[in-house]
Amino acid sequence: MTALSPKPQSLIPVIAIDGPSASGKGTVAQLVATELGFHYLDSGALYRIVALASQQQKIAWSDAAAVALCAKSLLIAFEHEQIFLNHQDVTNDIRTEAIGKGASQVAVHASLRQALIEIQHGFCKAPGLVADGRDMGTVIFPNAQLKVFLTATTEVRASRRYQQLINKKQAANYDDILQDLLERDARDQNRASSPLIMADDGVLLETDNLTIFQAVRFVLEKYQRFI
Ligand code: CDP
Repeated sequence: MTALSPKPQSLIPVIAIDGPSASGKGTVAQLVATELGFHYLDSGALYRIVALASQQQKIAWSDAAAVALCAKSLLIAFEHEQIFLNHQDVTNDIRTEAIGKGASQVAVHASLRQALIEIQHGFCKAPGLVADGRDMGTVIFPNAQLKVFLTATTEVRASRRYQQLINKKQAANYDDILQDLLERDARDQNRASSPLIMADDGVLLETDNLTIFQAVRFVLEKYQRFI
C-alpha cells in the first residue's frame, strides 16, 4: 500500500465508499453524489476499461507490464452516463461478467494501480467528490472527510447481482454468480497491492437489511456531522 504515493489532499471534500462486488456501493455513491451536487468517481470502471482494452489488444490480463503500458496509452472520457474509450462508447461493453472478472485480474498489478492514480485524483474537483471502489479511503484519498465501508453477505450480494442481470435481460445463473463473487472477494482481499480492506478510520455499513434509500441516508447523515 505504501508503494503508491497519493498527492496530499486539498480542501475539497471527499466521501470514499469502498466495499466488495455487488454490495450496492455504486448505486449508493451515485445517489449521494447527486444529493450533494458532488462529482462521482466510479473507479471500478477504470479497471474494467483496462481489462477491455487489454482484451482488444490481445494482452493477457496476467501480463503486468503490458497491461500497465496499455493503460497509459488509453484515452478515457466519462460524459454524463456514458463512458468512452478512445472515442468509442464502451458503457455497456465494460459491464459484462467476463470483463468484471478481467478487471479483478488486472487490478492485482501494482504498476497498473500506480498508472491509474492521476486520473482518479483528477476527479477531485469543487464542490466535492464521492469516490467508489476498493481503495478509495485507504490509498487514493486517505484524507477523505468520510470513509464508508459498505458491505453485505455474499448470498445477499449474489442475489442482487442475479436480479440486476435478469433486469437487464442477460443470462444469469445464481450458483455461477456466487462462485464468481467468492473468487473476486478472495482476489481483491488477498492481493499485495491496495487490498480490499476497511480503513482504520472508516465507518462500517452493512446493507443486508437496508434499502438503498436507508443506506444513502446513513451516508448523508454521517457526512453532515463532518461539515
Ligand atoms: O461492480 P463490481 O463491484 O463487481 O466491480 P467494480 O467496482 O466495477 O470493479 C471491478 C473490479 O475492479 C473489482 O473486482 C476490483 O478487483 C477492481 N477494483 C479495484 O481493484 N480497485 C478499485 N478502486 C475499484 C475496482
